[in-house]
Amino acid sequence: MAPIYARITGTGSALPERVLTNADLEQFVDTSDEWIQTRTGIRQRHVAVEGQTTGDLAFLAAQRALEAAGVKASELDLIVLGTTTPDIIFPSTACLVQHRLGANGCAAFDVNAACSGFVYALGIADKFIRSGQSKKVLVIGAETLTRMVDWSERETCVLFGDGAGAVVLEASSEPGIYATCLHADGGYKELLWNPVGVSVGFKDEPNHGVRINMSGREVFKVAVKTLDSLVEETLRAGGMEASQLDWLIPHQANLRIIEATAKRLNMPMEQVIVTVDKHANTSSGSVPLALDYAVRSGKVQRGQNLLLEAFGGGFTWASALLRF
Ligand code: ACO
Repeated sequence: MAPIYARITGTGSALPERVLTNADLEQFVDTSDEWIQTRTGIRQRHVAVEGQTTGDLAFLAAQRALEAAGVKASELDLIVLGTTTPDIIFPSTACLVQHRLGANGCAAFDVNAACSGFVYALGIADKFIRSGQSKKVLVIGAETLTRMVDWSERETCVLFGDGAGAVVLEASSEPGIYATCLHADGGYKELLWNPVGVSVGFKDEPNHGVRINMSGREVFKVAVKTLDSLVEETLRAGGMEASQLDWLIPHQANLRIIEATAKRLNMPMEQVIVTVDKHANTSSGSVPLALDYAVRSGKVQRGQNLLLEAFGGGFTWASALLRF
């Protein structure tokens, strides 16, 4: 039997309208545009206004991806949504978005893999399509991470932003996703975490104690090392050489981490999609935002080989090698 591949047939993304520049941050936290740009490559981030949720951004990104693919919401048989900032505890944000799109009846669930959420969701959706279970799948990465940012903490507040991206995957006899690699190591949980919640209980503190805790330097070191081996593993799994890649579409957290991965692959920065300057680290939103930008700006063309990768809290790390 001929293999079934999952092909991306449409992409979409959404950013909140409100923009917070590095200069804006200088007004209320002890930081500088120069420090932020040199250490991270970030110039600005988009911040959801009060009442604007992860689901709102996911819905917009999904509509745009469906329109680009020419697929009706009613044709979908699965929605997988990567997020670590769901609208509410339940129903899942995937269910909320499904109803707004009018895709009622299909399977829908969230995946929490922190910054790797979208690539995890893509890996799961790929398996559903390859197995013949699903034919048209919506994969979303969406976050309102600024909801858990402590704006008085300069070590973290400069790094994050809100946003969403989505793709439509369809079953095809043409490639398609060649390989996905998903990993996690919960032993690193305390290097990057938000240790309050439902079962352990919320705290009697501002914002219920909800805030991102991060050991930036340690995260940086493990991320670079882990991504190095991840990209090699992914190329092996997909039977491809680095020289056959057209584009690297990395998680947009820090320009220095992105540059280190590109160097490992021997890829010039001209073949790397960088959007971290425009929207900072949007966690699960980051890779699909970068992909949609790359497609709509005409950089990424049909038939090209793309390597997507992400790293985040858990730690989790994940990749996908595909022909667009
Ligand atoms: N503005 C000005 N100064 C700052 C700021 C700030 N916003 N934040 C920290 N500093 C100061 C520190 O206090 C420290 O001062 P000191 O030397 O007087 O003690 C100095 O800058 C250097 O701090 P470091 O933490 O060593 O700076 P580093 O070069 O490691 O950069 C950063 C910090 C940007 C957080 C980096 O470690 C990083 O990007 N790590 C990866 C973290 C990340 O991306 N997390 C996101 C989720 S995981 C992921 O997506 C990969």
